[in-house]
Amino acid sequence: MVKPNKPPIYIGYFHKSCHSGKMVRLNRRLLLLSLIVLNFTRYFTNLISQETIQQILSRIDIIDIVGSFVKLKKRGANYLGLCPFHNEKSPSFTVSPTKEIYKCFGCGKSGNSIGFLMELEKYSYVEALKWLANKYNVEVEETEVSPEVKLIHQAADSLYIINNFAQQFFSNALFNTDEGTDVALSYLKERGFREEIIRKFQLGYNPSALNDFATAALAAQYNPEYLQKSGLVVVREGRSMDNYRGRIIFPIHNQSGKVLGFGARVIKTNDKSPKYINTPENEIYVKSKILYGSYFARMAIDKQDECLLVEGYTDVVSLHQAGVENVVASGGTSLTPDQLRLVKKYTNNLTIIYDGDSAGVKAALRGLDLALEEGLNVRLVLIPDKEDPDSYVNKIGASAFIDFIKNNKKDFVLFQLEIALKDAGNDSTKKSLIVNQVAETISKINKTEEFTRRQDYVKQVSEILKIEEEGLNALVNKFIRDKVTKEEIRHNRSDSFTDTTPIDTADELPSGLFNKDEMSERAMLRSLLEFGLKQWDDERSVAEYIFLEVTENELDKLIENPALLNIYEMYKTWFAEGLNPNDKSFLYHEDKAISNLVIHIMDSNTEISPKWKEHFEGHIATREELFREEVTSTLNYLKLRKLKRLIDDNQRELEHAITMADQMLFLETHQQLKHMEIELTRQIGTVILK
Ligand code: UTP
Ligand code: MN
Repeated sequence: MVKPNKPPIYIGYFHKSCHSGKMVRLNRRLLLLSLIVLNFTRYFTNLISQETIQQILSRIDIIDIVGSFVKLKKRGANYLGLCPFHNEKSPSFTVSPTKEIYKCFGCGKSGNSIGFLMELEKYSYVEALKWLANKYNVEVEETEVSPEVKLIHQAADSLYIINNFAQQFFSNALFNTDEGTDVALSYLKERGFREEIIRKFQLGYNPSALNDFATAALAAQYNPEYLQKSGLVVVREGRSMDNYRGRIIFPIHNQSGKVLGFGARVIKTNDKSPKYINTPENEIYVKSKILYGSYFARMAIDKQDECLLVEGYTDVVSLHQAGVENVVASGGTSLTPDQLRLVKKYTNNLTIIYDGDSAGVKAALRGLDLALEEGLNVRLVLIPDKEDPDSYVNKIGASAFIDFIKNNKKDFVLFQLEIALKDAGNDSTKKSLIVNQVAETISKINKTEEFTRRQDYVKQVSEILKIEEEGLNALVNKFIRDKVTKEEIRHNRSDSFTDTTPIDTADELPSGLFNKDEMSERAMLRSLLEFGLKQWDDERSVAEYIFLEVTENELDKLIENPALLNIYEMYKTWFAEGLNPNDKSFLYHEDKAISNLVIHIMDSNTEISPKWKEHFEGHIATREELFREEVTSTLNYLKLRKLKRLIDDNQRELEHAITMADQMLFLETHQQLKHMEIELTRQIGTVILK
């Protein structure tokens, strides 16, 4: 039997769990759950504290990080290796430790360390941070979240831990108990699964006794409620029983290899019990988001730029064993949008491999219009002779199978058409319906870059249907127009509710096109980001000096671009928290708009002011040495702007002043302001032309 080697820290944790089971509460929680599971990653986003993030970022060493995946050799100031994103024989993948970025001159991919992890491992921003935290031993401090969210996370954590325990229990039962080897392992081997693949996929066995697993889990202090929730244990008349008794266990892993749930297969098929029992939906097992095998397939899918989709667990395992590793299973249902999105993270090429007459084919075809809309190329391979991929690869061997797949890919749109035509027979009404359907399907391919692809379809389909190409084209275009109109209506409705900050568009413009105001705002931020941590004088840092000046002169009211003001405020908060922020703190910001903006700001020194450029080029002194001048300059520019506004305002009041006294007052003010303006301009001049 398995020895539960569970850290004691969790014991109290499980016992603190909530005690429900009442229907009302269950329903409420289900509702909450569905809302929150949908937004799971978003909630996580807010969880890691800013302090932790800064700690992680301060430890980032891109050579170390990329070096964990790619063999790097030093070449001058940079490092060189074989690109992990495309197949290449001679290295064109470069990493710059000083710029903290990588770039492949072969495939053009580039980015920073976090981007690298996100691209290669398909991590989310938060997952990448967690990976780094783990690598650099940074303890992840999570910020306060609402009690509901906490509850969900507790449940999720507990379920992961229970599943991990269960997986080890089942593996042990398969390999190290008499019943397991006699009944289950021998069955698997008879089917052709070798031990190495069984271990890789962590297959297991749940003994046939009533409650072997339940007893072990309860003895190891796992919470009974979560054991039920995990689907591993059921309670009948007050007794805990194993739900998967006498079944082969297929653990289902998430993207990073953690066990989300299980599929449990009977060994001897009979009519009484279902062939598979699967984990019920819970905080971590959300069927519509799971593709079985994706953890083992992700690298191969990436490399081969193709994802094979089969129906069953055994198909995935068998194909892997045959060396076809870019394969995942949908579990026999039609693909959901979430599953499609998962595929799209890795590749645009989806090949569905189903047995020829399975009901699954039609199920799989449903919903695939969405795949077209997402820009996926969907192809279909039908396995002949009532075989499925697992039995077929066992029958004809690995290399014949690979050839078969390669030579029998059918286009999904044309295949769908074929099936529909067969169904319709000679019925002419049905046929005209088909024309409409296929036109609508083709209209889903409406990204501009896919124009040729769409035209190809129009041509082929019109030939198959024996109709005029132009007629079909017109129909397709009508569907596209309808959709655009619908979207416009929707868009207009939602417009008033969304805050659209035009960061992106502003960023597209070369900085020369910015107005002077925006340039001076950017220049001030650049000074802050670059020099903020330097000492201004004996008393304060540059950042503190800037904050003081900005507040005293109310210059923050002058920062008109909300995105820039946002960065200023963020810097201020982080600084106040003692986090020593700099431009890098923003380069890794999860909001790409923000990191892009900061990159532009930091990149635009020579464009901010042509005068500065002349100045710095004519001197040996570096910008570093001149930081005081730069800070003063940028602040003075802002002050000047403020003055100009005051002058304008005053001017307007002067024009409307009625009494002589008022007029005199405004005139005096005007003169003082003008005087200050001249003084300030002179100062800026001296700084710049010194
Ligand atoms: P299959 O009946 O094709 O099973 O169902 P299989 O995976 O090929 O298994 P073997 O080869 O007969 O041992 C395909 C998939 O449909 C889901 C499972 O995910 C299965 O892998 N399924 C099937 C269920 O969830 N429950 C069932 O009762 C049957
Ligand atoms: Mn099968």
